[in-house]
Amino acid sequence: MSIKNIAVLVSGGGTNLQALIDAQNSGIIKSGKIGLVISNNPDAFALERAKKADIKTAVCNKKDFASAELFEEKLISLLEENKTDFIVLAGFMCILSEKFTSRFEKRIINVHPSLIPSFCGKGFYGLHVHEAALKYGVKVTGATVHFVNEIPDGGEIIMQKAVEIRDGDTPETLQKRVMEEAEWKILPLSLEKVCGEM
Ligand code: GAR
Repeated sequence: MSIKNIAVLVSGGGTNLQALIDAQNSGIIKSGKIGLVISNNPDAFALERAKKADIKTAVCNKKDFASAELFEEKLISLLEENKTDFIVLAGFMCILSEKFTSRFEKRIINVHPSLIPSFCGKGFYGLHVHEAALKYGVKVTGATVHFVNEIPDGGEIIMQKAVEIRDGDTPETLQKRVMEEAEWKILPLSLEKVCGEM
């Protein structure tokens, strides 16, 4: 079985990217290797994490393109030039079109910071997800890793992990706990699972 060439798409701090790099170094991820990190945000700290780990980086900023279609065409050419087999969205804050997702069917996964189908879909990203969970008053939240299709956060679920909400939680404390207890664990495990099955 060949080792899959993985591209990770990021937008911000890149703690989930770091969890993948660490899992690769510790041998949790062995069926794939991160060959490229693409950020839509030139200032993303995730790019520094990739460089420190000697991973090739690229910036593809939507603002530099006249249309969403041209932005996605550039993303596709970067992925194809690098012979990408598998794509991970790790805090990537752009919604991808059906044209893009169908080209990589069952070859893109995303981590989302809630138990899908709660608090997901358009407008639910980053801290907003945790704000919504606290506002609703749920007592349990968590994270989900799922395949990406044309429906935002709507693809087949691969893994989920629940996280308790505590009295006095703020969106920030909850985000941190969901990352530590759920996202950073199930994202590497899911990636290894799907790459191993490919
Ligand atoms: C993570 O919590 C991730 O689940 C979320 O953004 C954060 C990125 O953090 N993604 C979404 O909300 C996507 N809908 P990171 O850059 O430190 O990995």
